[in-house]
Amino acid sequence: MEINKEFAKLSLPNQEPMTLPVITDTMGGRSIDIRSLRKDTGFITYDPGFVNTGSCTSSICYIDGEQGVLRYRGYDIEDLVEHCDFVEVAYLLVKGELPNVKERKRYADLLNNESLLHYDMQTFFRQYPAEAHPMSILAAMSVSLSAFYPEMDDIDPEAQIDFAVTRLISKIRTITAFTYRHMKGEDFVNPSYKYSYCENFLNMMFKSPVIEYVIDPLHVKALNQLLILHADHEQNCSTTAVRLIGSAEANLYASVSAGICALWGPKHGGANQAVIEMLHQAHIEKQSVKEMVEMAKDKRNPYLLMGFGHRVYKTFDPRAKIAKSLCKAVITRNGHSDPLLDMAMELEEVALSDDYFKERNLYPNVDFYTGLIFRTLGIPTNMFTCMFAIGRLPGWIAHWLEWKKDPYQKIGRPRQVYDGPQGRTVKTISER
Ligand code: CMC
Repeated sequence: MEINKEFAKLSLPNQEPMTLPVITDTMGGRSIDIRSLRKDTGFITYDPGFVNTGSCTSSICYIDGEQGVLRYRGYDIEDLVEHCDFVEVAYLLVKGELPNVKERKRYADLLNNESLLHYDMQTFFRQYPAEAHPMSILAAMSVSLSAFYPEMDDIDPEAQIDFAVTRLISKIRTITAFTYRHMKGEDFVNPSYKYSYCENFLNMMFKSPVIEYVIDPLHVKALNQLLILHADHEQNCSTTAVRLIGSAEANLYASVSAGICALWGPKHGGANQAVIEMLHQAHIEKQSVKEMVEMAKDKRNPYLLMGFGHRVYKTFDPRAKIAKSLCKAVITRNGHSDPLLDMAMELEEVALSDDYFKERNLYPNVDFYTGLIFRTLGIPTNMFTCMFAIGRLPGWIAHWLEWKKDPYQKIGRPRQVYDGPQGRTVKTISER
């Protein structure tokens, strides 16, 4: 990163022009450093949705939205999906390097050791309505971990971090599976040392005392790949929430819980659920994809094509490309089909040839095909966003830790442009 080699000049009303340093990042991207702007001039910047705002420096994830490039710690997403499993990618994100055999084994052992849930926490599940949205349970259980493991409050990043991180990565999977068992009114299935991370998840979800459950290797592969696709995406809404809460020095569990709440929204991780609901609705109402596209274009109608569009990608989301081919492989195995997959592919084709979508660079995003895969794995629709959360967790943790080491460690606190009344005087209640 280079600072102070170039300067931007800013002309302001009734003031001398100001020079602001330009930062050139390691990929050649340039930003104007406005940290001293308000102190030196009294001005602030107005940027709702933080569309143009770099809130931090980060070395975790790189996105080129114009070229459709996504890298974790410098590795292309396609390379990671092809050659690594989720645990290795989680390690990469959190620790900065891919593990060697010994490091991988130690991490897997820690994940195994940390996988059980405190018995008292298990009783919580039974108090939730069976129809409660699983994301509400996931968020509540995540922050509850700080009650059961309070030593994390004063976590020493160097000494304790592997324990804290593996505890969270391991338990989020147990919590999600227990939520499902509770929804189904079935006994919990504990994790087992015999299984890998993804095998364990599938076993905790679907093992039955009455029907033999055999873990399907293709489902394990698909789950690993899906979790890798979701593992990080730089300063998205939930990661920004995690960093913001962390900047108040809230503990890791509380910060992650805030990330889960942010992810739940249908404009963010909740879109994977919304996509299937949209396709399902269209299927039962026998809507054509052309009608769906027309509804999405109609500005009087709040209807959007869920799973389309992205703040950063103005071309194909590389994750959507991988998810699409994985989706076809998982669904069409043994000659099977899914009418919703056929509809999704037709919808993609029609939307991508429509001027409205072309002019706005609206392409399928990660959520467009992933729900169809989760569905094939047997995961219910209202749990899709929990799957996203399991995947995104290493990214959230990596960002939380990165913030802890940031030399410019300031609490997140944006300014505002005030648009309310000027000073007023309170009238007595009888005069109002
Ligand atoms: N269907 C129809 N029109 C759309 C869509 C869509 N899915 N997405 C954006 N537009 C239109 C939007 O109405 C606007 O039109 P105009 O310029 O005429 O006002 C234009 O495209 C630009 O959209 P925007 O809302 O200003 O873009 P944004 O960067 O603020 O929002 C987004 C990005 C992802 C929230 C939005 O595209 C969207 O709501 N998509 C559907 C929900 C979705 O799939 N979310 C998952 C995002 S990827 C995974 C994740 O982040 O979790």
